[in-house]
This record gives sequence, structure tokens and C-alpha cells, in this order.
Amino acid sequence: MTPQTTLKPIGEIVTPYKVLADCPRNIDPNGPPCELVLRGDLRDGLLGLATGQRILILYWLEHAERSVLRQNSRRTGELAGVFALRTPNRPNPIGVAVLPIEQIIDSVITVRGLDCLDGTPLLDIKPAMSGE
Ligand SMILES: C[S@@+](CC[C@H](N)C(=O)[O-])C[C@H]1O[C@@H](n2cnc3c(N)ncnc32)[C@H](O)[C@@H]1O
Repeated sequence: MTPQTTLKPIGEIVTPYKVLADCPRNIDPNGPPCELVLRGDLRDGLLGLATGQRILILYWLEHAERSVLRQNSRRTGELAGVFALRTPNRPNPIGVAVLPIEQIIDSVITVRGLDCLDGTPLLDIKPAMSGE
């Protein structure tokens, strides 16, 4: 039997995009400011992060279609499995982005150019490693 895994968002992401059609296809480090708004009780977890540092951001693309296993690539048009694509439609619709921190004030981290809807649940933040 597959064990159940429970994820509790650590906050939410504020972006300019209110509808899916307005979201960019992927991240753009020169895009508009977006905020990672951490839950207040988790603020201590930000110790050690600094402006300019690149972070790996994990988020939950909650409006995705989770039963799709193959679809046409938006880039090439060719049919491919979802694990060969960056599509939000996948069994576990986790989005990832690596972006530099522009500013940290209290429990809000500002980055530029995320590709998700306003209000998207934030799952985790980690320091990026070289190559990510
Ligand atoms: C191609 S995915 C890439 C996500 C992430 N950068 C990645 O590589 O894992 C980005 C697209 O996901 C869709 N999207 C954004 N926010 C979403 C949400 N909250 N639920 C479902 N789909 C979303 C939008 O169509 C956006 O263009």
C-alpha cells in the first residue's frame, strides 16, 4: 500500500497573476517582483538566508490536472510523458524555481519572475546548489 504523505504549506506566494492565462510559461529572473510570504510561526527558519543568495523554491500548483501522464510539449509540440516535461499537470503538481533573493523583510522574501498564480501555496525554500 502506498503510504499517505501530508504536506503543510509554509506560506503562500504573492504574484501579479490572478488567472492561469496570465502566468508566464516559466520563471524569468528579470520578471516582476513576487513575494514568498512565510507563515509567522516559521520566521525563525529564515536565519542565515541573505539578499543575493540563490534559493530553490518549491510550490504546489494546486489547479493542475493530476491524472494526466502524457501531453504535448508546449515547446516542441511533441507528445511526451509528464516526467519529461515541466508541465504543472502531473501526479504531484510540485513547481520548482531557482531565483536570487532580492530582499528579506520580516517573514517576506522578495524574488523576481515566478510563474505561478497569486496565492499559490509555498512548500519549501532551500539554498540552491551550483548547477541548480
Ligand atoms: C510550466 S509550469 C513550471 C513551474 C515551475 N517553474 C517548474 O518548472 O516546475 C508553469 C505554469 O504552471 C501554471 N500554473 C501556475 N500557477 C499554477 C497553479 N497554482 N496551479 C496550477 N497551475 C499553475 C501556469 O500555466 C504556468 O505557466
